[in-house]
Amino acid sequence: TIDLSATIGNETFHHPFVNAAGVCDETAQEMQSVLDSAAGGLTTKSATLAPRAGNPQPRYFDTDLGSINSMGLPNQGLAYYLDFIANSTTAKPIDLSVTGTKPADQVAALQQIQASDFTGLCELNLSCPNVVGKPQIGYDLDATRAILDQVFAFYEKPLGVKLPPYFDLQQYDAMAAILNQYPLTYINAINSVGNGLVIDPNTETVVIKPKGGFGGIGGQYIKPVALANVRAFRQRLRPEIKIIGTGGVTTGTDAFELILCGADIVELGTVVMQEGVSAFTRITHELETLMQEKGYQTLADFRGHLKTQS
Ligand code: DOR
Repeated sequence: TIDLSATIGNETFHHPFVNAAGVCDETAQEMQSVLDSAAGGLTTKSATLAPRAGNPQPRYFDTDLGSINSMGLPNQGLAYYLDFIANSTTAKPIDLSVTGTKPADQVAALQQIQASDFTGLCELNLSCPNVVGKPQIGYDLDATRAILDQVFAFYEKPLGVKLPPYFDLQQYDAMAAILNQYPLTYINAINSVGNGLVIDPNTETVVIKPKGGFGGIGGQYIKPVALANVRAFRQRLRPEIKIIGTGGVTTGTDAFELILCGADIVELGTVVMQEGVSAFTRITHELETLMQEKGYQTLADFRGHLKTQS
């Protein structure tokens, strides 16, 4: 029989698939639907200190190969998510995603979490591409170092960071050298590919309203970028720092590929937007079937075992 379990920090995921932050996780009802599905755990919408309405609509659009979004961090506020977790009876891990529109707010949010009874995984989102006038912290080495210095001066619970995609090997070297200096529990690679553009040739118009149509690209378009980021960070990070692989997973084979690159667990974004939470059941089955065919019994049998050509 096949064992699909994986651990990150003190948490055991009995199934390796979790929703990506921002997908089916803003309200209690949505979060409960993920917990009630075949998902191995739940990630919350990235919470900010105060509730946010987000950007004007339309702000999400599906295409045949993926999606574009410029949600602008609509969320119910940190207290709402802490409350949901405190009152949940689930046995599945819940990862609390947290962010802010400026570094001081991100630090303040983590101070509240440190002071709370919450003991689970927390994910600091350093990579939202959609707040007008706010660059992605993960693209600024000094800003990343500065926020992690501030955070680890007080934060003692398991913490991960959600990173933007990188595209140059020198960027991986530089970012991994920084991340390796902190007691991070994990990284999550990748957030959407920021500031892409989807247009409608019939109407000659962009498909989402915020930022003149620019938004984060998800889905099948970005799988090669996700594979590269997971692989490149697995080759560079301390082995104690685990990796959540996110980006373009639509099938069990896609998930298998991310785990081959070194992912510990895998998150599903656009596919859950397009297919609903039944995607967790389908993709889990597909991975299980593939492992059976290949004679693998655990994820560790192939995790990180990607081969190169000689
Ligand atoms: O693609 C994204 N959209 N990534 C984020 O980190 C935030 C989200 C949003 O709310 O705009």
